[in-house]
Order: sequence, then C-alpha cells, then structure tokens
Amino acid sequence: MIISVVGMGYVGLVTGACLASFGHKVFCYDRDPAKIESLKKKIVPVYEKGMKELVEANVDSGQLLFTSSPNPAFRISDVIIIAVGTPALKTGEPDLSSFFSATRQIGESLDPERFTVVVTKSTVPVGTWSKLASILGSQRGGHSHFGVVSNPEFLREGNALWDTVYPDRIVIGACCQRSVKVIRDLYRPIIEQSFGNLPGIPPRPGHLKRVELIVTTPVNAEMIKYAANVFLATKISLINEIANICERVGADVTVVSRGVGLDHRIGPEFLKAGIGWGGSCFGKDLASILHTAGKYGYFPQIIDAAVQVNTRQRQKIVLDLEDLLGDLGGRTIGILGLSFKPNTNDLRDAPSLDIISGLLEKGAVVKVYDPVAMDECKRQHPELTVTYEYSAIKAASNADALVIVTEWEEFRNLDLKQLKGVMKQAVIVDGRNIFAPRAIRKEGFIYKGIGRPDK
Ligand SMILES: NC(=O)c1ccc[n+]([C@@H]2O[C@H](COP(=O)([O-])OP(=O)(O)OC[C@H]3O[C@@H](n4cnc5c(N)ncnc54)[C@H](O)[C@@H]3O)[C@@H](O)[C@H]2O)c1
Repeated sequence: MIISVVGMGYVGLVTGACLASFGHKVFCYDRDPAKIESLKKKIVPVYEKGMKELVEANVDSGQLLFTSSPNPAFRISDVIIIAVGTPALKTGEPDLSSFFSATRQIGESLDPERFTVVVTKSTVPVGTWSKLASILGSQRGGHSHFGVVSNPEFLREGNALWDTVYPDRIVIGACCQRSVKVIRDLYRPIIEQSFGNLPGIPPRPGHLKRVELIVTTPVNAEMIKYAANVFLATKISLINEIANICERVGADVTVVSRGVGLDHRIGPEFLKAGIGWGGSCFGKDLASILHTAGKYGYFPQIIDAAVQVNTRQRQKIVLDLEDLLGDLGGRTIGILGLSFKPNTNDLRDAPSLDIISGLLEKGAVVKVYDPVAMDECKRQHPELTVTYEYSAIKAASNADALVIVTEWEEFRNLDLKQLKGVMKQAVIVDGRNIFAPRAIRKEGFIYKGIGRPDK
C-alpha cells in the first residue's frame, strides 16, 4: 500500500517507520522543513529506543521517504494518517489549528479517481471525525470518494516502537466497511503478528499470537482514547492519594501498592506513587475531556480531582525540602532527571519544570543532571536559571539536598558512598521511590520518599 503520514513527531515518525517495515511505501510529511532535512539524513529528532536503527533500515531500503511538500504523495496514497500535535489551549480545549490545516491540505490534494482513507491518529475531541469528514467532503465538492477513520494511538514514549508493533489492541472507528477493509489490510502484519524481527525492536513476546482489533464507530474510538488516559492518570493520582495517607499513618505505599496490585481486578501497572504524571498527553487530554463534558453541561468530579491531586503532588517536593532544610533561600539543591519519564527527552508538562521553578522562587540554587534531556531543556527553557551538570555526582556536589525527579536506571545504581562524600548534607528526597529506605539510611542519608515511613 502507499501511505502518507502527516506530522513527524513521536507518533508520526514511529508509525511511518513501523509501517514501512511491513513493506508499505510510506511518505512522511512535516511542515517543518528543517525536521524533514534532518530526517532525510537519518538524523532522528527524538530520543526513542531503536528509532535510529529502524529509520535507517527503512530509508536505506527505499520504503520510508521524507518530504516537505505533501503532493504528489497525498494524491497517490491509499491511506493518509494525520499525526500532528494537538496541544492544549488555555481554556483546556485542544488547539486543532494544525489538525484542520492538515485536513484542508489533504482535501485539496485527494485524487477523485482513487479511494483514499484519511486516518486520525492525533488525539482530538469527541466528534472531530465528523468535522474532518465535512471539510474533506466540501473540498471534494460533495463527492465522497474517501473514507474517514479514527484510529487512536496508545503508544508510550520510551517504549514507542514496541507498543506499535506489539500493541494490546488496535481501535478503528470507521465511517464505512470499505475503510475498515483498507485499515485491516494496513495493519494485517500487526494483527496477525506475521512479521519477522525488525531492526531496533526486540523480538515478539512468546505469548503474543494475534492482536485484538476493535472495529467501532468513530465517536466510540475517539472516546476510547480519552477514557484510557483518564483511567491511567486517575490510577496514578489515586495511588498518590493513598501514599499521602500512608505517610501520615506510618505505612509504606510501595508495600501497599504491591498488595493491592496483585488483585487481578486492579493490576500492578500505574500503581507507583511519586511526584505524579506529566508528558504531552495526560494533562492535555484530561483538560480536553473536562472541557468537552462542560460543553454538555456536565462536571466530571473524579477527572477534575485527578488533575488537582497531580498538581499538589509536584508542589509537595518543595514542601518536603522545606520540612527537611528550613528556608530554601541560598540552599543548593541537586535535581536528578528532567524528562517527564525515563528513556525519552520529552519535557512537555514535565514535573521537573514545576519543581525547579518552585525552588528558584524560594531562592534556592539549582543544579540539574539528566542523561538525555539537558539540551532540550536549555533550548526550550532558557528562562530557567539553573546549572547543567554532566553527571549525577556533579549535580550532587556541594548540595544541601538531592531530589530524584525521573527514575532513570543510572540513578538506581549510584555509588551511595561517593554521593555522600560529595554532598554538603546527605539529604535525599526520592520523588520516585527508587531507593530502599533502610539501606540508604544505613549509609548515613536523611531520606524522604513518597508515601513511606520517615524512620
Ligand atoms: N507523544 C505521545 O506519546 C502520544 C501518544 C498517543 C497519542 N498522541 C497524540 O498524537 C498526536 C501527535 O503527538 P506527538 O507527540 O507525535 O506530537 P509532536 O508535537 O511531537 O509532533 C507533531 C508534528 O506535527 C507537525 N505538524 C504540525 N502541523 C502540521 C501540519 N499542518 N502539516 C504537517 N505537519 C504538521 C509538527 O511540525 C511536529 O513535527 C497528538 O494529538 C497527541 O496527543 C501522542
């Protein structure tokens, strides 16, 4: 099949590279010419495990092409996938300007002689599919030689390639059976797990024989995406609330969540207490569904509470530091981790940014280290008056306290003796509960985790 993918962010690039591996010819278009020029040179703009190998292999085989002009690719495509960003506006509503500008561009280019399916992978408010269909329809002069499919994306940054080729399910919300057939063919290698080993992606897990395909209406598909993110974000906020109670009653949330998560009705995933969720999706998607519900005169209390708990959890770190150190003015605080989670350099809605701003407001001196996200942070946040250090030990040197913000693997393996030796005061606030309290206290640290007893 011939595929076009619009928008070369995490979702678009991963989707394009994976589909190219299955033998589809994939044209990747982005409105940012600099991004396209780097991709043509096989320079991958995001940090994502295996991405470079997969992109290189598919560019070399000629299956994956990058272009800054969507024509003629759109015109000859069987499927056009929209994966542009839909960031939140101040009102909570997503900004759909990029999405609709891509839609109009597609509408202008479709070949009336060819049936093309336009697929929405961007996360868009419930009901957007019908606006998409009507824009395309009006540009085609009412001639509907196209199909519209809502195909929400569930990949996790840091595991994006794995999630794309071995997903838990694929959801297709289609306007017609003809479109379903096209999209079923598009994803057949994933549904039937019929592909061999792919560059940059570990081999298939033994249990996976077939991937569930959910075929439904576009409105259900759009709603499934929001419902999934609401569940996941709320689960984290809920365990953080439990953690806050644990701290007060002297219980350890890591033990409590294990005891709870082994109940198969609950499950162990997304039950790690910490400084809360971040990233490009949860915050904006919860704001978006709150906004949608509001338009229909409904206020979803649990979703609102999940957001509030998350905000409070970030502020808690500064309060914990004040409890331990008193006035933070002039104190040196080392921050380990900037990205919103490990194995990515994505800083969108990263808790680190709020924590650092909170510390700077209190007059603290902030030193930071992240294995991959420092260049992005310097570029995106020149306003942050922090010192960037090239190692965890350098960030800890002479610090009054060290805060674990992102659970990068290398932080788990820090040499605690060396760490204690370089710090002004051996104080650790562990926002991700990566250390064993007893062991770290034995090394002479004052240790504060999330939802864990103080002694
Ligand atoms: N990142 C994730 O983990 C994730 C997971 C699931 C769903 N999503 C959703 O997928 C969508 C894309 O997310 P992302 O993180 O990949 O976004 P991103 O911001 O990383 O990338 C978007 C890309 O689209 C390009 N673009 C914007 N308007 C364009 C246009 N009109 N024509 C061509 N290119 C255009 C931008 O230049 C940018 O390169 C969003 O709606 C997001 O909510 C993201």
